[in-house]
Amino acid sequence: MDRIIRPARNVLGAVQLPGDKSISHRYAMLGAIAEGRTTIRGFSSAADCESTLGCLRQLGVAIHREGSEVQIEGAGLGGLRAPESGAPQPMLDAGNSGSTMRMLSGILAGQPFVTRITGDDSLQRRPMDRIMEPLRQMGAEIAARDGRYAPLEIRGGRLCAIRYRPPVASAQVKTAVLLAGLFAEGETVVEEEIRTRDHTELALIEFGADIRMESNGIRVRGGRVLRGGQFRVPGDLSSAAFFLVAALLFPGSNLLLHNVGLNPTRARLLDFLSSQGADVRVSNLESARGELIGDLHVTGGQVKGGSIGADLVPALIDELPVLSVLGAHSERGLSIFGAQELRVKESDRIAAVAENLRRMGARVEERPDGLEIPGRQRLAGATIDSCGDHRIAMAFSIAALAAEGESRIEGAEAAQVSFPEFYDILDSITE
Ligand code: S3P
Repeated sequence: MDRIIRPARNVLGAVQLPGDKSISHRYAMLGAIAEGRTTIRGFSSAADCESTLGCLRQLGVAIHREGSEVQIEGAGLGGLRAPESGAPQPMLDAGNSGSTMRMLSGILAGQPFVTRITGDDSLQRRPMDRIMEPLRQMGAEIAARDGRYAPLEIRGGRLCAIRYRPPVASAQVKTAVLLAGLFAEGETVVEEEIRTRDHTELALIEFGADIRMESNGIRVRGGRVLRGGQFRVPGDLSSAAFFLVAALLFPGSNLLLHNVGLNPTRARLLDFLSSQGADVRVSNLESARGELIGDLHVTGGQVKGGSIGADLVPALIDELPVLSVLGAHSERGLSIFGAQELRVKESDRIAAVAENLRRMGARVEERPDGLEIPGRQRLAGATIDSCGDHRIAMAFSIAALAAEGESRIEGAEAAQVSFPEFYDILDSITE
C-alpha cells in the first residue's frame, strides 16, 4: 500500500502512544513461563508482539487479548508443550520479528522437545548465529539454514550455565542467554561491553527470578519459579521518536507525548536531542515495575547536528533512520559511525536511508559502518522505497512533512510491524 504525504506547516497536539514493543515481548514471554496469571495493560499493538503471542499460543499457553489488555495463564517453567503435532509441519512463525525469534529461542533451548521456528523473507535473511552460538554452549542443539539463518530447529534439553560476552552489542542476544539461564543448572553470567536496553533484567526481577545486576555482569540462576502478576507497559519511546523529530522540523511546533517509557538505557535519545539544542522537557515522572515513565513536551526549533559514534549506537539503534532525517535539517549535519548493525535490521538501513535521502534530492555519503549527512538541506518530495521496513516507512514519512512537494511512501503498510496507529496519529497532529 502506498501513502501520499503532503508537506506540513506545523506539528501540534497531544499524543497517547501504544505500549513499548520491547517490554511487551518480554512480559508476554515471562508471563508464559511463570506460575499463575499475568495481566498486561497497555500491551503493544505492533504486529511483532502479536507474533510473540502467536508463538506462545502454539506452545500451549492460554492467552486472552482484548485490545491492549492481555491475560496470560502461565504454564510454569516446565509447562510449555511441543507445537501441535497435528499440523503437517508444526512450525512457529515469528513473522518480521527478530526479537520474537531470538529471545524466544532462549526459552526453546530449555524445553525437552524439538521446535522449529521461522519468519518472513526479511527475518530469514537476518543472522541467527549470534544466539545459536551461546545457546549451543549451554547445551541446546540448533540447526539453521546455511548455518545461520531461519528456519531454526531447536532441540532443547538440560542446559548448563555459561559466562558469555556477546561479540555484538545486542539486547536480543543478552535476553536469549538470560532466558536460557532460567532453565540452566548454575549461574549464567552475561557481560556487556556496551550496555544495551535492560528491560529483560528489570522484568526478571519483577517476575521473581534469581537475578543480580552487577558492574561486571548480569547473573541469573536457573530453576527458580517465576510468579505472574499485574503489569503495565509504558508508551514506546522509539515510536515517540518519529513525532519528536517531526515537531523539531517546524519552528512553531508544540507537542505533548503522554505516558512514554523513559528507561535510562533507552532515553539517551532525549539526552542526545537536548545536547543538539532541542527543547524536550520531561514531566510527571513515575516508575512502574522498575520502568520509568513520563510525559514529554517538545517545541520546534533547529538542532545543531554532530556525530553519533559506536558507544552511543546501541542506545539509539532504532532511532537512527529518523535521526538521519533530522540530521539533514540540522545546522552542521550528522555523522554516524560504528553502526554496521544497521545493515542487518529489517532492511539494510544504511543503504535504505542513503537511497531515500538521495531520492529526496539530498547529499549523503554511505560508509560500511554509517552515514555522513550534510546539514541545512531542503528535501524535495519523492517516491520513497520503504524496503518493507517499518522504520524506513515512518522515518521518510516524517521527512516528507518538511519536503517541498508531496511524497509517495511505497509499502507504507510496513508501519504495522511496530506502530499500526502511526498514520492516524500523524494525520491528527499535522496541519
Ligand atoms: C530490541 C533490541 C534491538 C532493537 C530491536 C529491539 C529488543 O535489537 O533493534 O528493535 O527488544 O531487545 P538488537 O538486540 O539486535 O540490537
